[in-house]
Amino acid sequence: MVGVETLSATAYRDRSVYERERRAIFGCEWLVLCRADQLATPASSVAGMLAGYPLVVIRDDTGELRGFHNVCRHRAGPLTDDGDGRCRGGFVCRYHGWSYRQSGTLSRARDFGDTDAFDPTEFPLWAVQVAAWAGLVWVNLDLSSPGFEEDLAPFVGETDGFPLDRYEFRHEQTEEVACNWKTYVDNYLEGYHIPFVHPTLNAEIDASQYAVDARDRYCIHSAPARDGARNLGKWMWRWPNLAFNLYPNGMNVERIVPVDASTTRIVYTFFFARGTDAATVDATRQVSVATLAEDRVICEAVQRNLDAGVYETGRLSPKHEAGVFQFHELVRSALGR
Ligand code: FES
Ligand SMILES: [Fe+2]
Repeated sequence: MVGVETLSATAYRDRSVYERERRAIFGCEWLVLCRADQLATPASSVAGMLAGYPLVVIRDDTGELRGFHNVCRHRAGPLTDDGDGRCRGGFVCRYHGWSYRQSGTLSRARDFGDTDAFDPTEFPLWAVQVAAWAGLVWVNLDLSSPGFEEDLAPFVGETDGFPLDRYEFRHEQTEEVACNWKTYVDNYLEGYHIPFVHPTLNAEIDASQYAVDARDRYCIHSAPARDGARNLGKWMWRWPNLAFNLYPNGMNVERIVPVDASTTRIVYTFFFARGTDAATVDATRQVSVATLAEDRVICEAVQRNLDAGVYETGRLSPKHEAGVFQFHELVRSALGR
């Protein structure tokens, strides 16, 4: 990969590129929408936006997970407000009151008038694929994309040996960063910046030996601790927008969610082994949040410079930026180069 060019600055600021990414990446890849504990009971629902797509996932009365676009088939009203909710009996659109069953079929178009030429079976909600794994609920908007188990098998296999089923949700934090989602992902995918951006982290690990091993649409990061201690964790990234960091006593997951072409929401979720004390949770959270604050400053500065129109492309380090290279290749491939 010697001498490989970065994506062009245009790709980080052009709204038409973002629109293409919404369809070609976020519209057909497995993405985390929420946590599984938010859908623990029958008739619970969670609605939220992913890359401009309004979505709702539910646990129906039989215990099945289902997912839909949160868009009514009448005139595009919302079925439910964003956030946690209930869907006992299904949904009633908040605009004119059309009713949908939990299966997504339209049960009633309220006070519609002469319905001779109207067949409700032609207007079910648009369904999406749903899966649950690692305490997270995943969606894929494209019904023809490979299923979760097929698509993520190699990535899921990397977690063998970590007791994910013993981890439980403890804390979640959401931040907005004023940069394109790829600016933030690029930054996550290399340790090259650690000596300059993260002094505390740099004191703990030998960043010159920070390695990123690119695999099948994911990569694994590793770095030796300066005190010679073996690092028992596994830091991973999964295409297109998930950082997934495993430790013997828990994991943290960072969702890098585009809000629009120039704003990115970071949802940081912490899971710990049952019984982990509050002080440990808080200490881990504080380290992660401090690192995120340092990354925010540099990512926002980089975005200003990408927007300025001076820089067009640069070169990736063969030693440090294999992860960034893989990511740029996946973006190029998704967008048809
Ligand atoms: S938009 Fe949903 S009932 Fe009119
Ligand atoms: Fe960083």
